[in-house]
Amino acid sequence: MIQFSTRRDRLKESARRVKVTRKNPPDAEDAWDPAGNPRFDVRVAHIARVYNYWLGGKDHFAADRAAGEQTISVYPGIRLSARANRAFLARTVRYLAAAEGIRQFLDIGTGLPTANNTHEVAQASAPESRIVYVDNDALVLDHARALLTSSPQGATAYLDADLREVDKIVDQAAGILDFSQPTAIMLIAVLHYIPDVGEARAIVARLLESVPKGSFLIISHAGSDLFPEEMDAFEKSLNEHLPADRHVARPRDEVMRFFDGTKLLPPGVVRVSEWRPDAAEEAATATTLWGGVGRKALPWSPALRAAGKPALPAARARDAIHDPVTWCPGPPGPR
Ligand SMILES: C[S@@+](CC[C@H](N)C(=O)[O-])C[C@H]1O[C@@H](n2cnc3c(N)ncnc32)[C@H](O)[C@@H]1O
Repeated sequence: MIQFSTRRDRLKESARRVKVTRKNPPDAEDAWDPAGNPRFDVRVAHIARVYNYWLGGKDHFAADRAAGEQTISVYPGIRLSARANRAFLARTVRYLAAAEGIRQFLDIGTGLPTANNTHEVAQASAPESRIVYVDNDALVLDHARALLTSSPQGATAYLDADLREVDKIVDQAAGILDFSQPTAIMLIAVLHYIPDVGEARAIVARLLESVPKGSFLIISHAGSDLFPEEMDAFEKSLNEHLPADRHVARPRDEVMRFFDGTKLLPPGVVRVSEWRPDAAEEAATATTLWGGVGRKALPWSPALRAAGKPALPAARARDAIHDPVTWCPGPPGPR
C-alpha cells in the first residue's frame, strides 16, 4: 500500500500493524504497537537496522547491534563507508535536482530516515520535487512518517514493497510520479541484496523501461574488488546475521553493466567518495562501494556508430547509448 503525505494518510499509516512471527521481543518498547502487539521480530538482524547502527543512528535492536559490532570488528572501515554512501546519495540527488532539472525521484531501498533524506535534498533545490520511497523493512515502514514531510509544492509517498516487485512499484508510484516525465531511479546500496546477478540486471532493465529517455539511474553497490580481503570477511560475517537477506559484493565491471542502456555521467563508476566530491578530504574517504549515475540513452544505429557518425541530431547526441564494457565512452559529436 502506498502512503501519501497528507495528514489523514499519515494517521492511517500510524494505525497500521506489521505482523510478526515471534513473541516477547527482549528489549525495545518500540517493538510493540499501542495495542500491545509485536510489530516485527527484533531477535533477527535486518540490514536496514544494521546499516542504521553503522551510521550511528538509534533505530536498532540487540540482534542488529551484534551484527553491526561483529562486522565492524572484521572491517572497521564500514562506518566511514556507510557515511560516504549517504554523502554520495546527497551529492547525486542535489546534482540531478539543481543541474539536470530532475523533479521526480524513485528511491528504492530507502533505509531508515536519517539526515539528508532524498526529499530534503531534492526539495532544498527544487521544492516542487516529488519523491516515492520504497523499502521492504517493517521498521522503515514504521518510521515512514518522517519521510512524509514534503514541502507544500512537492509530494512524498512511501511504498511498502520489495525491489523484486517492479510492476507493483511502478504501478503504485504512478499515483505520485508522472512516468512520462524524466525521473531518477535510485538504487543506493540495495542491489547487492539481490544475490542473482541476472535477476538484479532484469530488475534494473525493467525499471529503466518504465521511465522516458532523459531519466537517470543512480546506483551504489558493494565492490568485491575494493579491499577484497576485508570485504570477503565482512560479507561472510554479515551474512551469518542476516537470515532474510544475503549480501553479494560485485566487481566494478559487473556494477558497470547495470548501467547498460544509459550513458554514464563523468566520472563514471568510481568509489562513491570520488563521485564529484565537495572536498579533497571527502574524496579520500576509504569506501567499499562503487557508485555512478547514468542518463537513459537514445538508441544509436550500429552502422552509423561504426562509421563514427551520430545517428541522432547533434543536440541529442549526448544521450547516446553507454558502451557496457568501458565506462562513459561517449558518442562522437558535441556534448
Ligand atoms: C544498506 S541500506 C541502504 C539505505 C539507503 N538506500 C542508503 O543508501 O542510505 C539497504 C536498504 O535496502 C532495503 N532492502 C534490502 N533488500 C530489499 C528489497 N529486496 N526490496 C526493498 N528494499 C530492500 C533494506 O531494508 C535497507 O533499508
